[in-house]
Amino acid sequence: MPLTMIKIKKTEHNKEVGITVSDLDLNIDLSPSLINEIQDLVNKFKLVVFKNQKLTDNALSDFALNFGPPFKPDNNFPVLGSQNSLDSIVVVGNQADEYEKSYLGFQEVLPHSDHQWLKCPSAASMLYAVDIHKYSAPTIWYDMVQAYNELDNVLKEFIDELKIITYNPFYRPFGSVVAKYINRTIDVPPGNIFPHPIVRIHPLTKEKILYMNIAYEVEFENISFNDGVELFNKLKNHILNLDYKYEHNWENNDLVFWDNRATIHYRPPFDSNVRRVLKRITIGGEKPF
Ligand SMILES: [Fe+2]
Repeated sequence: MPLTMIKIKKTEHNKEVGITVSDLDLNIDLSPSLINEIQDLVNKFKLVVFKNQKLTDNALSDFALNFGPPFKPDNNFPVLGSQNSLDSIVVVGNQADEYEKSYLGFQEVLPHSDHQWLKCPSAASMLYAVDIHKYSAPTIWYDMVQAYNELDNVLKEFIDELKIITYNPFYRPFGSVVAKYINRTIDVPPGNIFPHPIVRIHPLTKEKILYMNIAYEVEFENISFNDGVELFNKLKNHILNLDYKYEHNWENNDLVFWDNRATIHYRPPFDSNVRRVLKRITIGGEKPF
């Protein structure tokens, strides 16, 4: 049967955040229509779970290249893993001793999109579950298009032209950064800054996105500290109360492909003795507009 005739089996998640594809082997040479269908699913549902994948690093990388150029870390602007490797695959692991380097351990990883502090943050990411043991942590994605849609009109208007600065957490000691509105009279975080619109437009879907994280040190441009803190707390509470989210409980050989523009993701802490190994590959993105 030609690959274009394959009908993939899909299961939608609650509130259309995410969809699961259960019968597609990503090792096959994907037809253009299938690649387009997968991109359409990511655009519509923000993330796609592919079950039962057996992927070498090369196969994972080849699959990712269908959707854009690889994200290239630059040591002048550090990101996860950039200190030790320019590889496009980063091991996100706990008790992952067979790998020379693995990252993020067992601690809480607050809600963020990857690389928001860079001039060109990544467009999408994939996590591939290599070895997940019992009582490891799920990953939770929040739909930031819906987060924007659910804001009241007054707030939408107020933030329409506003820019957010996200300070690069990798200039601080690892794990020391928490979600915080910075107070310049006390401490200005180090590193170059790249302000981005807090309401950005998705280049493919044209939807408006609330481009906000609640993981790092942030600041809004051209408003007073008091107004900034008030807005930060309002948006933070809004996001934490959002119903539009999906919790993925990992099984071995799951691959999750998510839109890094339109979602933020969160990982709760888990027991330091539990083994949890995933591989992440990231697709480069544009300057947010
Ligand atoms: Fe992340």
